[in-house]
Amino acid sequence: MNKIGIIGAMDEEVNILKGRMQEVTIKTIASMEFCEGKLNGKEVVVVRCGIGKVNAAVCTQILADIYQVDAVINTGVAGSLRNEIDIADIVISIDTLQHDMDATGFGYEHGVIPRMDNSIFLADLQLVTLAKEVCAEVIPTVGVHTGRIVSGDQFISDSGKKEWLVEKFGGYCTEMEGAAIAQTAYLNQIPFLIIRAISDKADHSAEMTYSEFEEIAIGNTVKLLDRMLTKL
Ligand code: ADE
Repeated sequence: MNKIGIIGAMDEEVNILKGRMQEVTIKTIASMEFCEGKLNGKEVVVVRCGIGKVNAAVCTQILADIYQVDAVINTGVAGSLRNEIDIADIVISIDTLQHDMDATGFGYEHGVIPRMDNSIFLADLQLVTLAKEVCAEVIPTVGVHTGRIVSGDQFISDSGKKEWLVEKFGGYCTEMEGAAIAQTAYLNQIPFLIIRAISDKADHSAEMTYSEFEEIAIGNTVKLLDRMLTKL
């Protein structure tokens, strides 16, 4: 993997990484600022895609077409869907799907994309294994979970919805971009990984805890990514 695309939804999620880059060239495409350069000696393109699945998909397609990246890593925060997954813990994607894809009125199961051969996108196993190893090395006291990440154009702050995401899809955490990045990577045959740090519990407390823990959660993903790049 020579060139890695790194996508975060928000400035807070990518600014620390951008600040550590060298030999940087910046280009604005589709209103997104693509920062190409080196991070720990590795060729990377770091970009803030904005929130939601459309932004995430557009951004990933640009990384594929213009930058021809060999892999895409999505980093950021997420809401936990399980009691054992605590604030600031890390979730590494095994696979991901869109929980808000709903063609049930047309005879499809929730989450299934009509007329596509696949609706659950598998993360690259080499990247999953590396992320787990590096977590044990750089953030040994932080809980690390490997499982399904469910994405939708919804900030989840409701216990009923949260339960449904677990019952229906077996989700570990929820966010708003991962599955769109994964689907775009899949269509372009590019390996991908989603790494999310938990900022809230995706229930009534979500809005409050989100702002309190966002910074700690992001700090953990930055440490992890920084080290991963030295090993890729
Ligand atoms: N990102 C962080 N927390 C989230 C939540 N509760 N729902 C959706 N996206 C999130």
